[in-house]
Amino acid sequence: METLAGKTALITGASRGIGLAIARRFAAEGAAVVLGASRWGAHGKLKGNLEEAVALIGKESAGSVAGIACDLSDEAARADLVRQAEEHFGALDIIVNNAAASKMRLPSEVSTKERSWMFDVNVNAPIDLAQQALVGMRERGRGWILNISSSTASQPVVPYRDSQVAAHVICAYGSTKAALDRYTQGLAHEVAVDGICVNTLAPENIVLTSGADYVRDIARRSPDMAEPVEVMAEAALELCSGNHVGCVTYSRRLLHSLGLSVMSLDGTTALGDAFLPADLDSTV
Ligand SMILES: NC(=O)c1ccc[n+]([C@@H]2O[C@H](COP(=O)([O-])OP(=O)(O)OC[C@H]3O[C@@H](n4cnc5c(N)ncnc54)[C@H](OP(=O)(O)O)[C@@H]3O)[C@@H](O)[C@H]2O)c1
Repeated sequence: METLAGKTALITGASRGIGLAIARRFAAEGAAVVLGASRWGAHGKLKGNLEEAVALIGKESAGSVAGIACDLSDEAARADLVRQAEEHFGALDIIVNNAAASKMRLPSEVSTKERSWMFDVNVNAPIDLAQQALVGMRERGRGWILNISSSTASQPVVPYRDSQVAAHVICAYGSTKAALDRYTQGLAHEVAVDGICVNTLAPENIVLTSGADYVRDIARRSPDMAEPVEVMAEAALELCSGNHVGCVTYSRRLLHSLGLSVMSLDGTTALGDAFLPADLDSTV
């Protein structure tokens, strides 16, 4: 029996990277998946786009897949996103708020415009989507909301693992993730009585996505600071199918604490345990 058979999920930021991996893993477990990204076709220099992601999952899995282009920094555009997603395969059981915006700037210099943009995509959009979905989830008495966070939500320990500048410029982005963690816990405890599981999950380490290419050198210098994307996908599956409530947790430690194996994204092959090493030359 597939873990997510009959379930419907919206995954934002699913044109590439961690979001696409989660969508592929969920589709392999029988979910109908709606992928979100800011644009439909090719744009910019980053690997992959929404059109290709929808085509890939359509080819890989027997499940249903659709895509919606919506710039989550635009409040009006995202105001109706859950309803639009539900037009495809019916009521949403699962939302994964994975899309994120980041601007690397020293905390003494990051502008109001840059901060507002990051807080809009990384905090306000997940809250808006959760509130839109909660109405139906409460009526049905079941639902899962997973917000993707980051270890940068906390100030790094001293001495820094890498450069001082790298530790400083991540501060504003990390502040948005700290806000997301706090909001998630509060919401989780409010809606647990309605049968809804709300959690945050962060990569334990660096996932070598094209969006995170600027930290690839850090992973090369310290290979233990990288993890394969399958680890995040597996942990996301657990948090979107189990009964966890109010966790602010990390990919490897969640799988390790539960003794879970990491599966390939198509769900057919056990790749190893929570300590599975990353391929430092790959980009997901
Ligand atoms: N990679 C890591 O090591 C790492 C570490 C800690 C936390 N995280 C978190 O993990 C999540 C995914 O990271 P990633 O590295 O996979 O990201 P990524 O490769 O940069 O991909 C980002 C995704 O978000 C979408 N997106 C960006 N801005 C958007 C907007 N304004 N509206 C709608 N969609 C937007 C992008 O879609 P487009 O096609 O429109 O660009 C893309 O699908 C993020 O929440 C990130 O903060 C990642």
